Amino acid sequence: MTTELVTNIGQLITNSPGVDTRPGSERLGILTDAAILIEDGQIAWLGAASAAPAHALAADTVTDAVGACIIPGFVDSHSHIIFGGDRSAEFEARMSGQKYSAGGIRSTVAATRAASDEELRARTRGFLGEMLAQGTTTVEIKSGYGLSLADEARLVRLAAEVTSEVTFLGAHVVPAEFSGRADEYVDLVVGDMLDACSPHARWIDVFCETGAFTPVQSRRILVAGAARGLGVRVHASQLGPGDGVMLAVELDAASVDHCTYLTEDDVQALAGSNTVATLLPGVEFSTRQPYPSARRLIDAGATVALASDCNPGSSFTSSLPFCIAVAVRDMGMTPAEAVWAATAGGAAALRRTDVGRVIVGARADLAQLTADSYLHLAYRPGVPLIRRVWKDGVAVS
Ligand code: NIG
Ligand code: FE
Repeated sequence: MTTELVTNIGQLITNSPGVDTRPGSERLGILTDAAILIEDGQIAWLGAASAAPAHALAADTVTDAVGACIIPGFVDSHSHIIFGGDRSAEFEARMSGQKYSAGGIRSTVAATRAASDEELRARTRGFLGEMLAQGTTTVEIKSGYGLSLADEARLVRLAAEVTSEVTFLGAHVVPAEFSGRADEYVDLVVGDMLDACSPHARWIDVFCETGAFTPVQSRRILVAGAARGLGVRVHASQLGPGDGVMLAVELDAASVDHCTYLTEDDVQALAGSNTVATLLPGVEFSTRQPYPSARRLIDAGATVALASDCNPGSSFTSSLPFCIAVAVRDMGMTPAEAVWAATAGGAAALRRTDVGRVIVGARADLAQLTADSYLHLAYRPGVPLIRRVWKDGVAVS
């Protein structure tokens, strides 16, 4: 058993009741002049540095956090980081005025099918490395660029090598070879494809949107996944209002993601549910769509998470500090709400209680900033603010 005492933490964000009384930041549960004892990958003790017990002071390693802020590692509850190729030319065209349409997904499907397992593994590990260096310690990964039985099975299998949060997204779009035969493709998704993929996945997801899957098809897919024991997540209301949010709430989805075009009924339904509204600021940033109002959701009482949606089409960022800065600048979140949403909010969207908080018994997944306050995550956009990251109690960067 190895132990590490991290002490001289100027500001510790626990996301559980703390001492901070500044209006609006109570949800962060801030402790000042704090210390944490890490034992076997978990938080064994935390409190005022001056009150550290003798066994903590006798830890194998004592790390001086030099007065910096430490936050729970970010929980990125929505990514598509297993794919081949990129779509930088599509991005360039969009910045010159072309509209985003999910049609580009098919070009990534072709590049993904052409990539070897080794290429995909190396690529995905590269993105995970980027994420870790930016403070993200838990990552959900979706399939969805295979869209054949063999390729979807390959993607969930490869994703399961690097995360326990694997999502089967066979219903991303209808692949070219099923053009005009969407219901036949849905038959495949809920049949042989689900058989092959569900053993490697924790979640099922569907892109419920005009141009992808109808609410009727989406329901069929989600219900089939749930019957196999998969938890439900939904992509909805990204390109326009639709029935996906209501469907997600009705099926007690852990999360409904995008939520760019919400009706008042959607907002009220989310507020009265256990379904997290996951907002993806990188998408609006790189598709030039209007930002959704996180304020409206939070004021109504909904739980909001922030995630990267890292993918080659609509949001090719792996940075949650970037998402926090944009959410504060353009989506009406306070810095405290945004930091909470990218940590505890992401954990809620994955129905996890062992990450996203610094409490005794939680995984010791932590990020130390170069700054003394979490505010810098929104205040200093584009600056590498992560100095040190612990994953399962091990300092990894
Ligand atoms: O979450 N909405 C659907 N899927 C992705 C976009 C995928 C792509 O454009 O390649 C998303 O934004
Ligand atoms: Fe997505």
